[in-house]
Amino acid sequence: MDKVKANMKSCLNPVPKVLVSCRGLNGENNVLAVGYCGNCSYDPPMVMVGIVPSRYSYHMIKESGCFVVNLVDENYKETFNYLGSHSKRDEDKLEIMNVKLEDAKIVNAPILTDCPVNIECTIVDSIVTGSHEMFIGKIEHVSGDSKLVNADGTIDFSQIKFL
Ligand SMILES: Cc1cc2nc3c(=O)[nH]c(=O)nc-3n(C[C@H](O)[C@H](O)[C@H](O)COP(=O)(O)O)c2cc1C
Repeated sequence: MDKVKANMKSCLNPVPKVLVSCRGLNGENNVLAVGYCGNCSYDPPMVMVGIVPSRYSYHMIKESGCFVVNLVDENYKETFNYLGSHSKRDEDKLEIMNVKLEDAKIVNAPILTDCPVNIECTIVDSIVTGSHEMFIGKIEHVSGDSKLVNADGTIDFSQIKFL
């Protein structure tokens, strides 16, 4: 391979494409698309999500101290793109896209009914890295579509057609 210098921004690829759902202290629900995220501890189980402070969701997540990471499959592509390009500050994007929500099992936030896996997290720390604040979430509960969860609780990710 012949190598030349390339741009440094967002050069770790592919990135996960998830929807993060949250609830403000006033009870308002919101969802945004997130690509800056990943597993960050196996024991205890933890994930992190990076949120830009200008997002409408940012204060909801920071003040409530929790969020849900929803894995997205290709059936939800249009909704993912819409939620990732429109702000709840300007319009009720959840209503417009007919996003189905239900209460999470443990944390005070909604989960997305039509996403196959919902990872409920409590924030245990955060780091302002630059453009993003990385919220470290201790996983409190994971719900998976019954067709995907094996008898031992493991999730068969191979059945999910990710975006
Ligand atoms: C593929 C994709 C990845 C994104 N990743 C992030 C991210 O990691 N962090 C973030 O704050 N915004 C990210 N966004 C942008 C937000 O989803 C977008 O600004 C959204 O409209 C914010 O909604 P809100 O203002 O209602 O919170 C991403 C958008 C797309 C389409």
